[in-house]
Amino acid sequence: MSFTLSKVVPWGRSYEEYISMFSLSPSELSKPILGCSDGPASFNSILNKQNGSIVSVDPLYSCTPEQIQKRIDETYNTVLEQTRENQNEFVWNHIATVEELGKIRMAAMNEFMKDYEKGKKEKRYINASLPQLPFRDKKFNIALCSHFLFLYSEQLTEKFHFESIKELCRVAKIVKIFPVLELGSVKSRHLEAIIKRLEKENFRVKLKKVAYEFQKGGNEMLEIAN
Ligand SMILES: C[S@@+](CC[C@H](N)C(=O)[O-])C[C@H]1O[C@@H](n2cnc3c(N)ncnc32)[C@H](O)[C@@H]1O
Repeated sequence: MSFTLSKVVPWGRSYEEYISMFSLSPSELSKPILGCSDGPASFNSILNKQNGSIVSVDPLYSCTPEQIQKRIDETYNTVLEQTRENQNEFVWNHIATVEELGKIRMAAMNEFMKDYEKGKKEKRYINASLPQLPFRDKKFNIALCSHFLFLYSEQLTEKFHFESIKELCRVAKIVKIFPVLELGSVKSRHLEAIIKRLEKENFRVKLKKVAYEFQKGGNEMLEIAN
């Protein structure tokens, strides 16, 4: 198992959280979307049921349903325990307690698990890894990346981030990344350098406030257009 697949936890957010993290409009939801690093999130399953056009990529999709379920079961209590220990790093407004958080995340992951085999056959869940994606240029209107780039800044280099974001820009017209914090709820150590490097290559880069905030101070997404 690669470093990122073994160290990055399989943890899935809900459709509603995706809408809020990325401020997605009905018009954006009606065009082709790439969900990068979607893991066991329910965004793909729900959007597909609403007739949206969505493809998710994640190295997790090299696993069988049984293997994914086992990893979710193994990490679920640890993640909740760590959240409980670091409760002061989070904003408990939309989600009031650690128990409620567990219920919301498990419901999202159950939704994903029910859809996984069907979605794999329909090529909506594709086993691929940044910094290289198996798509033609500008296949998607938007590429979303939730809780992977920037979040694991301690583990993943600036070079990895830059190459990955450029690859996302190759396959989509607009790229949205949330959050721009790393673990521990501090701003990503790579953010400033990455923005400068992208602007130098004439990408239009904006930090945008969003309605979603769970990690304290984590209410901004990075939007890149080219
Ligand atoms: C914390 S989860 C986030 C899942 C989902 N996006 C969400 O917000 O609920 C991070 C995901 O990144 C995936 N990942 C790990 N290495 C990756 C890589 N090189 N390229 C793309 N995704 C990767 C992991 O498998 C995992 O599913």
